[in-house]
Amino acid sequence: MKTIYLDNNATTRVAPEVVDAMMPFFCELYGNASSMHSFGGQVKRHVERAREQVAACLGADPSEIVFTSCGTESDNAALRGTCEALTGRRHHLITTRVEHLAVLSVCRHLGGHGFRVTELPVDNQGLLDLQLLEDSLSDDTAIVSIMWANNETGVLFPIEAIGEICRRKGVVFHTDAVQVAGKIPVDLSKVPVDLLSISGHKLHAPKGVGVLYVRKGTRLSPFMIGGHQEGNKRAGTENVPYIVGLGRAAELAQRYMADEATRVRDLRDRLEDGILKSCPDATLNGSRVHRIPNTSNISFHYVEGEAILLLLDQFGICASSGSACTSGSLEPSHVMRAMGVPFTAAHGSIRFSLSRYTTGDEIDAVLEHLPPIIGRLRELSPFVTSKA
Ligand SMILES: Cc1ncc(COP(=O)(O)O)c(C=O)c1O
Repeated sequence: MKTIYLDNNATTRVAPEVVDAMMPFFCELYGNASSMHSFGGQVKRHVERAREQVAACLGADPSEIVFTSCGTESDNAALRGTCEALTGRRHHLITTRVEHLAVLSVCRHLGGHGFRVTELPVDNQGLLDLQLLEDSLSDDTAIVSIMWANNETGVLFPIEAIGEICRRKGVVFHTDAVQVAGKIPVDLSKVPVDLLSISGHKLHAPKGVGVLYVRKGTRLSPFMIGGHQEGNKRAGTENVPYIVGLGRAAELAQRYMADEATRVRDLRDRLEDGILKSCPDATLNGSRVHRIPNTSNISFHYVEGEAILLLLDQFGICASSGSACTSGSLEPSHVMRAMGVPFTAAHGSIRFSLSRYTTGDEIDAVLEHLPPIIGRLRELSPFVTSKA
């Protein structure tokens, strides 16, 4: 059975071009990029080339790119590194209720270690009130951490406006851009962001590599301490094959960006419109307007998301209910709760996330198999009976 993979916000297929770029760095150019000999120096040049490729994709200077092991590490490094750099002077953090746990858990952890944490609410579209953000800022605020796009709904926050508010108040601004990198243009020469996180495996590079962008002049204590790699900002021997792969993935992302904005968006809209038309009591979660082009989060009222996933799985269709990190628990996701999605809808929410490899035939297959699955589950649902 062919796999129909519509779970690209969880992870993506590694692009064949990325695998090709990585291969020489396992058995041929395997030197340590920090070694003094020319064999190591040769490898270092490829790391620096990857840094340039990532910087070009973000509108950044290569010196502002720090390679890490994943998006979670980048988020930890941004938040904990800023708080440590400002120790004893600022004790307040601002984030939102819908962040990925890589941010939310770190903020809550810091909340138990002397920091006051403000978690901004969202409305039923998943959008923020910027006046509330402005009112929450104070002379004691160390950092604002607000994601660029939500991993569950795809909803985009107005990062440029948020960055301007933070800059006016002289507060460090971090954004988790894990779900936007490679999907929509990011130009940090224009957008006032101080720190930004990226994860390789969300943009067709392998798992185990990420980036923290650190704008020149931003005060940050290193999160990983040890050697002098990455300009003393992140210790640990450089993961050369993966860094080279991420550089190539960033280059490809720039090339395919226009495709994401049109072909992928069209496929997503066809899937979404088809589902909403053929499945009664199905509603879209999050803003239809302010969102990335590859994501659709739909609630099938009165049925369990897990049951839908299991039945889709029988046709080789992969989607997700809540984020991959929260599935496994029967609680509705914290994002759905923050948006005030009613209980009977939050439990039946499914995220479909597409990629440059998604085809029209795959969308047609989902539109063929999904409506009968929902029909069958509704017949079994105690909520439908009590509703009647
Ligand atoms: C918005 C967001 N931030 C952070 C992460 C964590 O990234 P990683 O899996 O590279 O640690 C994810 C992964 O799902 C994510 O979607």
